[in-house]
Amino acid sequence: MFYSHQLIILSFSFSLFSILAMHQLTEFADCVLPIENQALVDICNKVTSALPPSKTGKKVFSSSSQSRVKASSAVTSGEGGVDQRPEKPFDNMNNIAANLILNLTSSARFEGSLNVDLNEITMNLVPFPKIHYLVSSQTPLYSLTDVNLPPQRLDQMFTDAFSKDHQLIKADPKHSLYLACALMLRGNVEISDIRRNIERLKPSLNFIHWNQEGWKTGLCSVPPVGHPYSLLALSNNTCIRHTFQDLKDRFMKLYKRKAHVHHYTHVDGMEVSQFDTSLDSLNTLISEYETLEAQMGRVVDDIQRLTIA
Ligand SMILES: *[C@@H]1O[C@H](CO)[C@@H](O)[C@H](O)[C@H]1NC(C)=O
Ligand SMILES: *[C@@H]1O[C@H](CO)[C@@H](O)[C@H](O)[C@H]1NC(C)=O
Repeated sequence: MFYSHQLIILSFSFSLFSILAMHQLTEFADCVLPIENQALVDICNKVTSALPPSKTGKKVFSSSSQSRVKASSAVTSGEGGVDQRPEKPFDNMNNIAANLILNLTSSARFEGSLNVDLNEITMNLVPFPKIHYLVSSQTPLYSLTDVNLPPQRLDQMFTDAFSKDHQLIKADPKHSLYLACALMLRGNVEISDIRRNIERLKPSLNFIHWNQEGWKTGLCSVPPVGHPYSLLALSNNTCIRHTFQDLKDRFMKLYKRKAHVHHYTHVDGMEVSQFDTSLDSLNTLISEYETLEAQMGRVVDDIQRLTIA
């Protein structure tokens, strides 16, 4: 879990503790970016299967020059880091999380024509203060050997950012409702490229009827090492409720049997009722997202708005 004054990156590895932590995050954090281990594992596997056989000891199915990638440029690679110890099992997963933080803060570290500040990421448009969880996705997952990428690749990067395979939690934002979305780009990208891609993708995304134009974009002209450009998408999307539902279901399984609860009640000042309070808070959060998602498919009421004006 990465902690700063207002931004928290939370990795969901499950224990009874998660439900208590969730309660604190819902009450006190300004913005949380959850990461799920299974999603990271899936991304690692996908990257590994695209690496040349020499690096993985595995045979790769595709050998077309287009899909060949440099092992050291994969998002999971720790190469170039200060720490030279041999790779450990969780290194790949940790590297993805580290990249998320680095890309997120790139605007603060480099110059850019349209740099967005971290404070601007929280897209507080309407006061639902507890709806402060964002789904993140990073693309590309690895750079292609060919650096002179044709323009189509850039568009592919935008497409990927919205696919369920690139999310850092197991979720599919396309089948849920977008409340807002931030695109943070790095490298050789024009504002017109961003606009064109938003227009292109819009028809396939469900945006809440009162925030159809809920896009925020940031452009940092310094590209990440080994890439001409990269994209970090942060989505305020109701699909996150499935992650919370999962968390609740797993908690309930243990809690019903009061399994492991004594480990917690041993601690001074900790009472069983804290689990109940936390559970209530999680239930409220899930239903807030459900209520919003129920507005999916509602069309913008333009005509009515005009008559009022
Ligand atoms: C997500 O959208 C909701 C509804 O507009 C808003 O209340 C909330 O503050 C947004 N969350 C973030 C982190 O931007
Ligand atoms: C940022 O994201 C890109 C794309 O996922 C990744 O390849 C890059 O290594 C990340 N890190 C930094 C420091 O920008």
